[in-house]
Amino acid sequence: MVASVDAIASRIGADVMKRGGNAVDAAVAVALTLAVTWPEAGNLGGGGFMLVRKADGTTEAIDYREIAPLSASRNMYLDAEGNVIKDASLVGYKAIAVPGTVAGLAFAHKRYGKLPWPDLVEPARKLAAEGFIVSQYLARSLAVKQTVERMQRFPESWRIFQRSGKPYQAGDILVQPELAAVLKRIQSDPSDFYRGETARRIIADVQAHSGTLTAEDLARYQPTVRTPLRSMYRGYEIVTMPPPSSGGVALIEMLNMLEPYDLQAMGWHSSQEVHTVVEVMRRAYADRAKYLGDTDFTRVPVVGLTSRAYAEQRRREIDPMRASDSKTVGAGEPLGYESPQTTHFTIIDPDGAVVSNTYTLNESYGSAVTAAGTGVLLNDEMDDFTSKPGVPNTYGLIQGEANAIAPRKKPLSSMTPTLVLKDGKLWFAVGSPGGSMIINTVLEVILNVVDFGMNIQQAIDAARFHHQWLPDKINWEPFEFSRDTSDALEKMGHVFAEKPSDIGDAHAVMVDPKDRARLGASDPRRGGVAVGW
Ligand code: GLY
Repeated sequence: MVASVDAIASRIGADVMKRGGNAVDAAVAVALTLAVTWPEAGNLGGGGFMLVRKADGTTEAIDYREIAPLSASRNMYLDAEGNVIKDASLVGYKAIAVPGTVAGLAFAHKRYGKLPWPDLVEPARKLAAEGFIVSQYLARSLAVKQTVERMQRFPESWRIFQRSGKPYQAGDILVQPELAAVLKRIQSDPSDFYRGETARRIIADVQAHSGTLTAEDLARYQPTVRTPLRSMYRGYEIVTMPPPSSGGVALIEMLNMLEPYDLQAMGWHSSQEVHTVVEVMRRAYADRAKYLGDTDFTRVPVVGLTSRAYAEQRRREIDPMRASDSKTVGAGEPLGYESPQTTHFTIIDPDGAVVSNTYTLNESYGSAVTAAGTGVLLNDEMDDFTSKPGVPNTYGLIQGEANAIAPRKKPLSSMTPTLVLKDGKLWFAVGSPGGSMIINTVLEVILNVVDFGMNIQQAIDAARFHHQWLPDKINWEPFEFSRDTSDALEKMGHVFAEKPSDIGDAHAVMVDPKDRARLGASDPRRGGVAVGW
């Protein structure tokens, strides 16, 4: 079973497994396909996290997050007066961090794969070379005003993603010959991206535009294997992503705070339930802002933040009748230190091995730069660092010292690929894009299944809300709250975002505990499709 944002990619993943491939083989093929068919976030020029659980239950996290270039420095996005230079960490050649995707996929394949690497690259290469039919969702994404304006600033990107001066329309055929040539070289040798012809082309273009990446940055990139975080929620085991994602830490902190409440008795989306969950979100995101960063560079109190004692201390601050004020909430004091767009897909293979993978260019189409002669869109992941403490990034997240920029450091992420186990066996695996909204999207899918007894598709379809400490407001989805509920929440002191917007795009697989049937659920928000056989 494969659940992803794109029907072509999901089908290719299922085909790989029909041919005898395992979940990691399928993940490699799906990720490379999405780089062709879902260029908003599928990528070669970005990075991500892959949570792998083998059929024997051993679990590892492969961290192929981008890193800051060697020349990066703490204040690189500030002007002479110390103000953040608008868009400098978001658009163009100075926003790009060293991409990790190709290295991460090749590493995962070497460690776990069964089928030959070239066979897994071939479907993506073919789609790039021969073209594919642009879906309604891709056309909608390409036509977003901000995307068009950004792409038009970079002739190579605009040349590739427009036809007759307009973004590609649904039903058009999109052919990407330069990307096909890169995939062909990677098919022979993935290190071409870092030390071969592709690397040479990327660096030539970046340097011609006074960008920061160098040949040494690419040549030195290596993925990292990390131990997933584990916790229990109402008797179910949660296995999730450690730093440099903030997602796993915040998810566990929120679940720990929520466990003493009977959410089911309050009722799904009652004012009392929304209030309780929002207060928990507010506190976890305040802690994220202060404490989280790349643990290879900065000390993060992971054990303290994910401890039950700390959750209980934070929970006791919550007034059941009154919204807190984010200005006064701030971060707590955990016990001492110990050492718009992204996409997610989830896969389970016939043996029961699982991949939960979230990867990204950061914003839609990343920095909007396509390296000349490669067709490879490059990320703007540098914006996930703290450009200046206290100044919000593109997701409105306030970030702290722990996430300051340093050479070869990884920007703090919110990506939260997660597994939920029942009696030691996989129950479901889920993840989502959505920038700062990722963590809350994963939280709400888990609550919908565990607390409210929804099936996995209902849990994904259900309307979501989001609060991230600052700005101090509840984001919500269209038709989500009855007037009664929103009035009651406003009376408690909550403030709603002016307009509704989509929150997340989750893709999950579930194993039915009764008959071990594999269930797939893709999010309808961006046209996702789950494919099994
Ligand atoms: N770029 C979004 C994230 O990693 O959280």
